[in-house]
Amino acid sequence: IEESETTLRPPICCVMGHVDTGKTKLLDSIKRTNVQKTEAGGITQQISATYIPTENIRERTKDLKADAKIDVTGLLVIDTPGHESFNNLRSRGSSLCDVAILVVDITNGLQPQTIESIELLKMKNTDVIENDKPLVVVALNKVDRLYGWKTFPDVPIANALKLQSSDVQLEFKDKVTKIITQFKEQGVNTELFYKNKDRLDTYSIVPTSAISGQGIPELLLLLVQWAQKTMIEKLTYRSDLVEGTVMEVKVTEGLGTTIDVILVNGVLHKGDEIVGPIHTTIRSLLTPRPVTELHIKGDYIYHKEIKATQVIKITAQNLEHAVAGTAVYVVRTNDDLARYKKLVMEDMRNIMSRIDKNGKGVYVQASTLGSLEAFIVLLNSKDANIPVGDFGIGPVHKKDVLKASVMLNKREEFSTILALDVKVTPEARELADKLEVRIFTDDVSFRLFEQFKVYFNSVKE
Ligand code: GTP
Ligand code: NA
Ligand code: MG
Repeated sequence: IEESETTLRPPICCVMGHVDTGKTKLLDSIKRTNVQKTEAGGITQQISATYIPTENIRERTKDLKADAKIDVTGLLVIDTPGHESFNNLRSRGSSLCDVAILVVDITNGLQPQTIESIELLKMKNTDVIENDKPLVVVALNKVDRLYGWKTFPDVPIANALKLQSSDVQLEFKDKVTKIITQFKEQGVNTELFYKNKDRLDTYSIVPTSAISGQGIPELLLLLVQWAQKTMIEKLTYRSDLVEGTVMEVKVTEGLGTTIDVILVNGVLHKGDEIVGPIHTTIRSLLTPRPVTELHIKGDYIYHKEIKATQVIKITAQNLEHAVAGTAVYVVRTNDDLARYKKLVMEDMRNIMSRIDKNGKGVYVQASTLGSLEAFIVLLNSKDANIPVGDFGIGPVHKKDVLKASVMLNKREEFSTILALDVKVTPEARELADKLEVRIFTDDVSFRLFEQFKVYFNSVKE
């Protein structure tokens, strides 16, 4: 592909909001998939990213007669979890995004993690570039839950509202007025998108139903039109630098420890020497088959090189020491190496400061660093106050049991492994039985947390 100065990269779009407002379902509706149903407990536990090509957006918005105006090169959408213990994952997602969909359940209004999301979006990129706050659109979701709501497929949402009974229209108006007031109390101006004249300082509200798909074309159109209208400079593709961030470090079946990297600018090649907290050489560059999620097992496509903007799975040696949230740099000269290593040290200090790795406490084993961090935050929270002695990523092996057994003669109740969304090998299980190390397992963090709390409270008495 010929590269010109004016090539645009797709905007990175983050989906945020309180738990169960319908973030994943909205994305499913955009992609016409059903990820939400396959999630443990219906809860999103990690960041996942999906590329929505321009053609899909064109097709989806064709009834709005706006086709000619779309020239943004697709949208890279990042789903984040709403559960309160995933603060770290949300902040990682929000720090990357150019545009954001803030999902609010029309029947519940603003909720704790809606407010936290607003704070994260306000906070974004304080340094570097001025005026770099992401463009935010509010999806006022679950309108179909309004009593008496009628679905009119393929009718633009603004018109569909006019076709509702006067009772529904009144209830809708009442709910919207309340929610606009709640936003105001958080210092944010919002307005229904078809009334909004000042889109830079006032978030547009788009009523949506992830079930019927209503409002989704309007949501997509607003995002891409405003991105290309206001962010040309920011979205101009840069081939002169490689800009990437590690989103997840995890064990992928058949591939060992891999990293999922969001490549914002530049090109990565097989064989490139990369520096993060790790220093290694890219063995393979993989992308999932189209319209599948990174966290679902399946086939990958192998690449010789990959151009931004995309999410890429990388295999290489030493990846178990990579850390989610840190930058990835490509070394071209010896000078680069020293400079990047210094930058990486600064990155690492930020992340490790969030993990409390004190001497005495339970042993935590998780499938990804992201879920590990979030789980440790939950354990360390003021109410729980459970210390974490050590941790690991991936399946529970004998060595993990040995590490956990160190607590047996310090604080017996902490000789426990909390295994979050990971397998326990039979050998590890056998050794644990012999040494009397307890292993609790679950694939949902707060259920695992509850399991341990019941046990912990029973031995405290
Ligand atoms: P977390 O990732 O756990 O924070 O939740 P989420 O925000 O991704 O919500 P999710 O997509 O898991 O949806 C939660 C529940 O709400 C599911 O049972 C969905 O089927 C339902 N739901 C989502 N959107 C709509 C909607 O527009 N209308 C109705 N009636 N139900 C919806
Ligand atoms: Na959910
Ligand atoms: Mg979700």
